[in-house]
Amino acid sequence: MADSRKRSAGSTMSTGAPAPSDRNSLTIGADGPILLHDVHFLEQMAHFNREKVPERQPHAKGAGAFGVLKVTEDVSRFTAAALFRKGVDTEVLARFSTVAGEMGSPDTWRDVRGFSLKFYTSEGNYDLVGNNTPIFFVRDPMKFPHFIRSQKRLPDSGLRDNHMQWDFWTSNPESAHQVTYLMGERGLPRTWRNMNGYGSHTYMWVNADGAKFWVKYHFHTNQGMAFFTNAEASAMAGSDADFHRRDLFEAIARGEHPSWTLSVQVMPYAAAKTCRINPFDLTKTWPHQDYPLIRVGTMTLDRNPENFFAQIEQAAFSPGNTVPGIGLSPDKMLLGRAFAYNDAQRNRIGTNFHQLPVNRPKVPVNTYMFDGQMTYEHSGNAPVYVPNGSGRPWSDPTGAVADGWEADGEMVRSAYTLRPDDDDFTQPGILVRDVFNDAQRSQLVDTVAGSLLGGVREPVLGRAFDYWKSIDREIGRRIEEKVHSGTAPKPAEGMGER
Ligand code: HEM
Repeated sequence: MADSRKRSAGSTMSTGAPAPSDRNSLTIGADGPILLHDVHFLEQMAHFNREKVPERQPHAKGAGAFGVLKVTEDVSRFTAAALFRKGVDTEVLARFSTVAGEMGSPDTWRDVRGFSLKFYTSEGNYDLVGNNTPIFFVRDPMKFPHFIRSQKRLPDSGLRDNHMQWDFWTSNPESAHQVTYLMGERGLPRTWRNMNGYGSHTYMWVNADGAKFWVKYHFHTNQGMAFFTNAEASAMAGSDADFHRRDLFEAIARGEHPSWTLSVQVMPYAAAKTCRINPFDLTKTWPHQDYPLIRVGTMTLDRNPENFFAQIEQAAFSPGNTVPGIGLSPDKMLLGRAFAYNDAQRNRIGTNFHQLPVNRPKVPVNTYMFDGQMTYEHSGNAPVYVPNGSGRPWSDPTGAVADGWEADGEMVRSAYTLRPDDDDFTQPGILVRDVFNDAQRSQLVDTVAGSLLGGVREPVLGRAFDYWKSIDREIGRRIEEKVHSGTAPKPAEGMGER
């Protein structure tokens, strides 16, 4: 009887020639040894052995979708960037992620969430690689690898470890603002659709006259913010580790297209010098009363990937990818990141990762980066050097750069110069006292105490009480009391193991 599953046209080998069989290898007789010249079998095995690429370090677990940014407001007084012109629609790829967990880790472990965007603009690709919180744990990129290692796994047991996490946080008080966000509701978003996204850093915008501004990006969810409790998140981690990935994919497949309103805070260029906080310090937010939100447009995600690996796993985002009208800023973290991502991607995906369809810009490319593993797009026999006499264009502007800033000074290794309001605890204190309500404060006390009870030892424990008392005396006292009474509920997974 004919095999009903057999495809009429059959499959091919990678060469395009018909594949001899995807079900039976070539043997001498039905029970005999496999033959070395079964090229199709050998190719299948060899390719399988190379099927995975290294996972991202960090932000390994994530997923995403495509969509569009529609600019509905006129912000041309601040930036000449084509993607932010009123009426322009730009295709976007978004990827959401956890930070510390590995590729197979549960989506609902308590963590900050990544919020990465790639805009395929008419002037090249523009990436914003932010989080669901407006600030970060540290303000010097030198500390970043240490921070990430402290959140991942112990060298001997391979276990996650609360003691290590709190040891790092309490030794780096600039983490207090982000840790307060993380221990609050933002650490457990119900779905990716229900969370805000932030560019987090300060960036530069430059208008058509060359005037410069500092900006912060806010993507507010139009689905409303929603969160899991510790108990709900733990239960979900056990029953559906891919809950957030599934939720986004299925919502888009059903035609429920999530959207976010994009607004920016804008600071005049010169105001950065006199601001009472350092506006480039990634652990600080800008007061909204001084720098109100200015609406730009709406981002909607409406198209699922056709292939997760090709379009999401191999997607390469970098905060260094800017377009005319947008620049970086003196934020040391941002400048460190401008190197880190492309370098990580050359290692993770390959030298020519930028040539893959998901990473390739929609505009023509004329780069002098030449050859290398897996070269696909090439410049034919055009000259591979500049200057050249054969008419292949090259760039050669000199002088001050359009998106630059003044940076004369002695070379030093130093923390930022302190400004009047630049302490580490004021903003997290405001978050706890003025933004959180009573129920949220109690939840915070439970979550922190539960985490500290999960194996945090002296002297880190004492440091943790001081850290929270510096944020807010009363909250610190309640956390200490709860730890000493040993009554805190077990926190959501992901904050280390006992
Ligand atoms: C100096 C500090 C930092 C360094 C060195 C760093 C480095 C990295 C590296 C190497 C990756 C993996 C990239 C890849 O393989 O494609 C990554 C991913 C990521 N990082 Fe950072 N990071 C830093 C700070 C930050 C900050 C401050 C944020 C958010 C405000 C952030 C958000 C993300 C996100 C969202 C991803 C996932 C990107 C994706 O979806 O593919 N990182 N980071």
